Amino acid sequence: MTVRLTDFTLRRTLLAWLLGPLVVLLLLDVAVTYSSSVRYSNEAYDRALHEIAREVCLHVRYDGDRPRLEMPPGTERLLMVDQDDRIFYKVVAGDGSLVGGDPSLPAPLKLYDGRPAFYDDMLGKERVRMVAAHMNCDEREKHETVLVQAAETLNKRNRLAGDIRASVFIPQLLLIALAAIVVYYGVARSLHPLQLLKRAVSDRSHLDLSPIPTTGVPGEVRPLVEEVNELMLRLGTTLNFQARFIADAAHQLKTPVAGIKAQIEVALREQNLGEMQRSLAQLYMSADRLSHLVGQLLSLARNEPGAVESLALQRLDLNALALEVTMEWVPEALKRNVDLGFEGDQPIMIKGDPHRLRELINNLVDNAVRYSQDGGHVTVRVGGEAQPQLSISDDGPKIPVEERQRIFERFHRLLGTHTDGSGLGLAIVSEIASLHKAQITLEEDVDGIGNTFTVEFPTPDSPPPG
Ligand SMILES: Nc1ncnc2c1ncn2[C@@H]1O[C@H](COP(=O)(O)OP(=O)(O)OP(=O)(O)O)[C@@H](O)[C@H]1O
Ligand SMILES: [Mg+2]
Repeated sequence: MTVRLTDFTLRRTLLAWLLGPLVVLLLLDVAVTYSSSVRYSNEAYDRALHEIAREVCLHVRYDGDRPRLEMPPGTERLLMVDQDDRIFYKVVAGDGSLVGGDPSLPAPLKLYDGRPAFYDDMLGKERVRMVAAHMNCDEREKHETVLVQAAETLNKRNRLAGDIRASVFIPQLLLIALAAIVVYYGVARSLHPLQLLKRAVSDRSHLDLSPIPTTGVPGEVRPLVEEVNELMLRLGTTLNFQARFIADAAHQLKTPVAGIKAQIEVALREQNLGEMQRSLAQLYMSADRLSHLVGQLLSLARNEPGAVESLALQRLDLNALALEVTMEWVPEALKRNVDLGFEGDQPIMIKGDPHRLRELINNLVDNAVRYSQDGGHVTVRVGGEAQPQLSISDDGPKIPVEERQRIFERFHRLLGTHTDGSGLGLAIVSEIASLHKAQITLEEDVDGIGNTFTVEFPTPDSPPPG
């Protein structure tokens, strides 16, 4: 038999645990009642059977030492009279010879002197109750004892045992049936709040993330409901955030797409080849900006806090990686007349995802180079005695103190920033930093001009190889 997990319900488990022992109790009760009913009915009738044996004994006479039974037919009839059962007796002398009675009564197997033995036996094919005792039938003279046996069929005993059983068993059966009903309805009633809870949840719209009321919820289940409420709260925040982000992203995409459309229309109307080429060049730049925006949006989605699973952490040299990325920026820096420098001379080992860290450095260097003035200086530094550190300094316009927090928000750009940008770079940097459990800080440069972005990485657990 296979048990599916869905078969498991609290109701079934509770019923099994409560009703199971009740059924075992009932079976035990049947066994005990049966054996006691037989014992009590035997106790009641054995005494009468013993009396019959004693009565038979009163009719034993002695010829010298030889016993003989002198049972008047009237007395015998009186002794044998019973409405329900047939009665038998037998008297055997000490030497084993039959003194009187029914010779077909089987001899007892074992007897203890002086005490009558009561036992069940077979007479032919019929079950009988027997009493057998060695008796001294003439107390005035000392004769050898005779063995007196009396037997009777079991009809009245069976009837009495049956009556006892019925009188004990039926009320008990009723009691257990009542207990079973009470348990069944008690369990159903106790589980009713869970049914209500289930209905409250299933009746909800998938948009309703308000907390499930905990009034009337059993104490054992309340922590679970509270946890679900907590989860819904977090889910609500995430969904709101996502919805806002999609709206913002759509809004951000709408403007460049509309611009591109307008530029295409202008280009289409243009008759002059030179003008058309100018329009196409502008169009190319707009498409480039759009593609940058789409790239930043994808990068943001890739580095969401939930992306931990796709994080490919490995031991790497931050110094080498930062140098490599900085070198790639040299042509752009030269184009913008910015002096791009690098400081860092020894391997700094961290645990990180190389592709994501490359994105982080790219965004910070991009900002530093892009927002620096003509002839500005940008320095990428890698170091950190106690903790691995990467910092990018520029001598461009200082980011006001009150904006230092907000520039990490999505789509937030400083007022008066004329250079192109989607406002997502620092949001991506901050997501990547938190995926690496790194701290990012922004300070104004040591000389009071420009800005320094510093990313502080956690120390890798084990020392660098080699
Ligand atoms: N080094 C910097 N110097 C001066 N201002 C900066 C610097 N870095 C960022 N900013 C300001 O912070 C804003 C947000 O930067 P962020 O990198 O998030 O977006 P972006 O550069 O505008 O666009 P994107 O990086 O997505 O192309 C910028 O628009 C700019 O105003
Ligand atoms: Mg940027």
